Amino acid sequence: MAAINSNFLKLKAGYLFPEIARRVKAYGEAHPELAGRVIRCGIGDVTEPLPPAVVRAMHEAVDELAGRDTFKGYGPEQGYEFLREAIVEHMYPGLEVSADEVFVSDGSKCDTGNILDIFGKGNVIAITDPVYPVYVDTNVMAGNTGEADANGAYAGLLYLPCTAENGFVAEVPDQRADLIYLCFPNNPTGAVATRAQLEAWVRYAKQHDAVILFDAAYEAYVRDPSVPRSIFEIDGARDCAIEFRSFSKNGGFTGVRCAFVVIPKGVTGMAEDGSRVALHALWSRRHSTKFNGASYPVQKGAAALFTEEGKAQVAALIDHYMGNAALLREAAKAAGLPVFGGENAPYVWVGCPEGLDSWGMFDKMLGEAQVVITPGSGFGSAGEGWFRISAFNSRANVEEVCRRLKALFEA
Ligand code: MLT
Repeated sequence: MAAINSNFLKLKAGYLFPEIARRVKAYGEAHPELAGRVIRCGIGDVTEPLPPAVVRAMHEAVDELAGRDTFKGYGPEQGYEFLREAIVEHMYPGLEVSADEVFVSDGSKCDTGNILDIFGKGNVIAITDPVYPVYVDTNVMAGNTGEADANGAYAGLLYLPCTAENGFVAEVPDQRADLIYLCFPNNPTGAVATRAQLEAWVRYAKQHDAVILFDAAYEAYVRDPSVPRSIFEIDGARDCAIEFRSFSKNGGFTGVRCAFVVIPKGVTGMAEDGSRVALHALWSRRHSTKFNGASYPVQKGAAALFTEEGKAQVAALIDHYMGNAALLREAAKAAGLPVFGGENAPYVWVGCPEGLDSWGMFDKMLGEAQVVITPGSGFGSAGEGWFRISAFNSRANVEEVCRRLKALFEA
């Protein structure tokens, strides 16, 4: 009989968002008369159509594939040069990133999970709590943890609590870590890290010879000019950090799928014989073995985001979602709830009313207001007592959510 990867059996419950979808479906079946009223502010999935510049570029690319002279088969695994050059020019000006340090992929969820392929066993892995569940679950699958306790915390991970007291930005720990997951602007709390806080992390990583896995999928939402958008804005990060970015939340590519990883050539890990090995070379080997590149029309569409027209259309999309975030912040505040995030991120992080835990608030919002939110405890035990409202929605839906929140708390 085929042996399985028993690490999967350690995973607690299902992945958070399918679990929420399951509960919403069950609610709709139990209350068919209210199912049409449900507004989804749970999963952070974009709602607005693709920027017209992207649509045109993708159509043109498909037409190229339709002609014998312009047809293309397999592309370069690492991504087409035209996209990698555009990424460097428009997203990393003056930051020394070179196009051959960029690896184009089909999503940051896959990249942040797959990156574990190039790391060995025995690393101390630091993970914030609350956290994007993919970082935890993929470490469980890879065998980097023990069993979960009653709170869902896995033995062997170094959890870094993020609380209202530290503004939901983890402080550097006293003990050593080898791999550190940071996500700014943060999913789920919407927190951003100051330059000084990121400098402290880079100092820590260099002191412990650790690698920072920096997820900047929400970079486009940073409004405060003093907040770094990339870890590579911090001196020394090119020696110790890998950055993940995505076109999902800026260009609306959640369904199109395109993202990238930047691995500077100077970032190294240690082989069993103690020698230093460049992570860039390992990822390049992994990528070319297990991935055949994002599709040509998708990469053409992504490159169109960097044209003048594309940039203006992305700015309008971000303005739209951030306008939603501002409305949701105000409504939650007016309801008398503690509110974080939503100023440099599309997520508003809200404290539950007295007497309700995160899933209790989920049930109340769904049952009494037909609004889907994400329970904070689904992101880790330190998220208990909080919930996340996603600003990815139409303006009309967000205004309706604000009205229902008001009614709920006036009642
Ligand atoms: C979320 O809701 O946290 C996001 O949709 C997750 C993701 O981008 O995979």
